[in-house]
Amino acid sequence: MKILAIETSCDETGVCILENTGTNVNILGNTLSSQVEIHAKYGGVFPALAKRAHAEKIVPLITGALDESYLLEAVEEPIEIVNKLEFLNKKETQLKENLEPFLKFYKKPDIDYIAVTVGPGLEPALWVGVNTARALSTIWDIPVIPINHMEGHVVTATFVSEDKKNYVFNDLTFPTLSLLVSGGHTELVLSTGLGNYKKISQTRDDAVGEAFDKVARMLGLPYPGGPAISKLAKEFRESGQANQFEMPRPMMHSGDYDFSFSGIKTAMLYTIRDLTNQNTRELTEEEKLALACAFEDAAIEVLIHKTLKAIGEYQVQTVIVGGGVAGNTYLRSELAKAIEKKFPSISVLFPESWLATDNAVMIGMAAMMQVFSDKIKTHNPEELRADGNLSL
Ligand code: KG4
Ligand code: ZN
Repeated sequence: MKILAIETSCDETGVCILENTGTNVNILGNTLSSQVEIHAKYGGVFPALAKRAHAEKIVPLITGALDESYLLEAVEEPIEIVNKLEFLNKKETQLKENLEPFLKFYKKPDIDYIAVTVGPGLEPALWVGVNTARALSTIWDIPVIPINHMEGHVVTATFVSEDKKNYVFNDLTFPTLSLLVSGGHTELVLSTGLGNYKKISQTRDDAVGEAFDKVARMLGLPYPGGPAISKLAKEFRESGQANQFEMPRPMMHSGDYDFSFSGIKTAMLYTIRDLTNQNTRELTEEEKLALACAFEDAAIEVLIHKTLKAIGEYQVQTVIVGGGVAGNTYLRSELAKAIEKKFPSISVLFPESWLATDNAVMIGMAAMMQVFSDKIKTHNPEELRADGNLSL
């Protein structure tokens, strides 16, 4: 069984081909194009530019992934696609221009399903992937499996590999609790079985990844801010100095599981303003290290505190961490230590770092889970829609 998966929910365009043998999954081909440089000057993702970049990159990425999988074969005579791509005329002219020659000059590949992210995310960006999947499905007559991006993040942590190619599904003990931490989401999700999710919390304002990005901008660090802040914070911790700065832990003892990160962000803003005499001088490198560390300490402590509380209340057996912030080394080490100390019998699963941020493999893996559990949910391509606010 082979799946071609597409991801375009935010600022990464991804395409991959996965094949399964039993519950093992092989990555046959995988391509990814990051728009980080395009959005860096805005300090966040600019939707119209994201859409354009996805439309430019998606066809070369499909070709690349198929080629890497030995599934790309040119035809001798162009394939007649008549009016089958008319639905792209209104809003996706650039995508249509790129898709047409590809679909005319290459054979239908040996693929069983097309998996595509339908939400949540930036709607104009999501539509590029959705419309691409519709076009491929229509011309090739291959069924489409719509995938929730957040489910992709959950599922990725449940696969392990030794070589970044051959993945084995790590059988789960339920109930599981997923801590989903990305640029758009911060939530805790309970699951009593595959494909069955109950969200028990979310952020009331900024997502944790978004807070990392905004604070990085205040410190003059590049976008995306997570890795940049984390690097400085690590350097500060390793210096062994005491931190003169301390940031608040919003909603840490709120009694529920919701999160809030705008308070830490505002506290950072005021601290920086006071420190630089209303921005009349630059922050020193030492101050940047200490501030990055104070911010990361506060954000990570809140995440860990709420996760531990939920483990206790819901008799959780497995903790899964997903989303771009799951790549944060401090979160990984501190959460694993805290769980080991308080709940030694509980396992905690993190995605491999290279699969923590957005990519198409996570979308293909979520579709593979449907294959394994014999619950494949395909969708009529003509009625496929993007939904920016889709919930788990
Ligand atoms: O899951 P993701 O790739 O995209 C969304 O679905 O949002 O997450 C991107 C977010 C960005 O906000 C980025 O700053 C954050 O994940 N991030 C990190 C790290 N790597 C990425 N945050 C903290 N530490 C990291 N190492
Ligand atoms: Zn994501």
